[in-house]
Amino acid sequence: MPARKIAVIGAGYVGLTTAATLAAAGHGVTCVDVDRDKVAELRAGRVALLEPDLPELVAAGRRAGLLRFTARLPDALLPPHPPDLVFVCVPTPRGEGGAADVSIVEAVARDLGRLLPPGAAVVLKSTVPVGTADRVRGLLRRPDLPVLSHPEFLSEGSAVHDCRHPDRLVIGAGTTPADRAAARRLADLYTDLAAPVLLTGNASAELIKYAANAFLAVKLSYANTLAELCESVGADIGDVCRGLGLDPRIAPAHLRPSPGWGGPCLPKDTHALLDLARTRQIGFPLVRAALETNDRQHHRIADKVRTAAGGCLDGVRIAVYGLAFKAGTADTRDSPALAVARLLHAQGAELTVYDPAAANPAGPDDWYQTADNPYTAAKAATVVAVLTEWPEFARLDWALISQLMHRPHVVDARRILDPEALEACGLTVSAVGRGTR
Ligand code: UDX
Repeated sequence: MPARKIAVIGAGYVGLTTAATLAAAGHGVTCVDVDRDKVAELRAGRVALLEPDLPELVAAGRRAGLLRFTARLPDALLPPHPPDLVFVCVPTPRGEGGAADVSIVEAVARDLGRLLPPGAAVVLKSTVPVGTADRVRGLLRRPDLPVLSHPEFLSEGSAVHDCRHPDRLVIGAGTTPADRAAARRLADLYTDLAAPVLLTGNASAELIKYAANAFLAVKLSYANTLAELCESVGADIGDVCRGLGLDPRIAPAHLRPSPGWGGPCLPKDTHALLDLARTRQIGFPLVRAALETNDRQHHRIADKVRTAAGGCLDGVRIAVYGLAFKAGTADTRDSPALAVARLLHAQGAELTVYDPAAANPAGPDDWYQTADNPYTAAKAATVVAVLTEWPEFARLDWALISQLMHRPHVVDARRILDPEALEACGLTVSAVGRGTR
C-alpha cells in the first residue's frame, strides 16, 4: 500500500479518529477544522474528546511528522500538501422535519471545487442523506473530481478500536472509470485490514449507514419493550436477551435494556431515514414505532422513579447517577439520562446529578444541582436513579449510600447493579426488565 497524502476536514469524533488512524498507518494527514481553539489545543497536544487511545494516537502521529492540524482549508489542500484523498467528516445535525442538515457539507463542497488541485478524490464520511454525493458533484463544478461515499460506523467510546478493526468498509462510487479507479485507490488504504470491502453505488453506500443505525434503534426499542413485558410476567430481560442473542441471526449486541437509546447518531439518523421514506411516500411504521417506543421508555423510567418515591415527585429529592448518553463518553447529546431527568424535574423533583465525566453543555444547570461524587449526590435523596451504565456505579459502597439516603430506593435503568447485594444493604431495588416471581 503506497503512503498517501490525505486531507481530513473536521476534527470531531469521526474526523480526528480517522486522521490519527490513517497517520498511524503511515499516511501523511492534514486535519483541518474551522474551530481555531480546537486546532490550537490539538497543536499543543491536547485532545478534548474522552476517547480511549485517541490522545496517544494523535501524539504518535504528530511525533512522526505525519499528522498536522490547521484552521485554514488552503493549508490542507494546496501545495506543498496537495492531497490524493479528501475525507469530509463535518457534522450533519438534525434539521427541519428530521432531515439531516447538510449545509456544512455543501459549503465544504463549494470550497473544495474552488481550491482542490486536479488528481484528488472527495470522500464523504459524514452521515449524509441519499443523493448527497450527486449534490456534491453539482456543487464542486469539477467533473475531474470523483466523489466517493464512505460512511463511518465507529461508536463513541471505542472509536479508535472500531477504526482499526472495522466490521466492513463500504465505498460507494459513480460509474465512470475515474470514479471506479478512485474507489480502488481508497480501498487500497485498507489492504492491511481483515474487513470485507463492499463496493457499491453512492446511493447504496449512503443508505447503508442510515439503515444500520435505524436497525439498531429498532433492536434497542424491541429489547426495551421486552423488558416491560418481563416485568409484567415475572421474566428476566437479562436471561431473555441472552437466549435471543445466542441465535446468530439475532446476535447479542445492542439488546441491553436502558432508559432509552440516544447519542449524536441513532436518534438523528432514525429521524433522517423516516424523513427520506416520507419524501418517497413510503411509510416506515416499524422505524416510527422505534422512536415512539423510545419516548415511552423515558416516561416508563420516570414512572418507576415516581413509584419508588411513593407516587409523587413534587419536592422530592432524587439522585441521578449518569448524564452521558452511554458509559465511556462525556457526550450528553440526545442523552436518555437527560430526557428522564427532565421528566423528573417537570414533576417537581429536586435533582442532584453525578456523572464521572459528563456535564450538560446544552444549557444552564439551573434545573438540577451537580455533585462531584455519588455519595454527596445521594445525601437525603429518596431515590437513586441509575441512568448511565458507568461500571463504577456497580462498585460503590451501597451500604453507605443506603445510610445517607432519606429513603433507600434505587431504580436501576441500566441493570448494572446486583439487586440481591443492594437489598442486603437495606435498599429496595427496581431494575428495568426484572419481573418479580
Ligand atoms: C452508533 C452506532 O453504534 C455506530 O455504529 C454509528 O457509527 C454511530 O452511532 P454511538 O452513537 O457511539 O454509535 O452509540 P451506541 O453505542 O450505538 O449506543 C447508542 C445508544 O444506545 C446509547 O444511548 C446506548 O446507551 C444505547 N444502548 C446501546 C442500549 O441502550 N443498549 C445496548 O445494548 C446498546
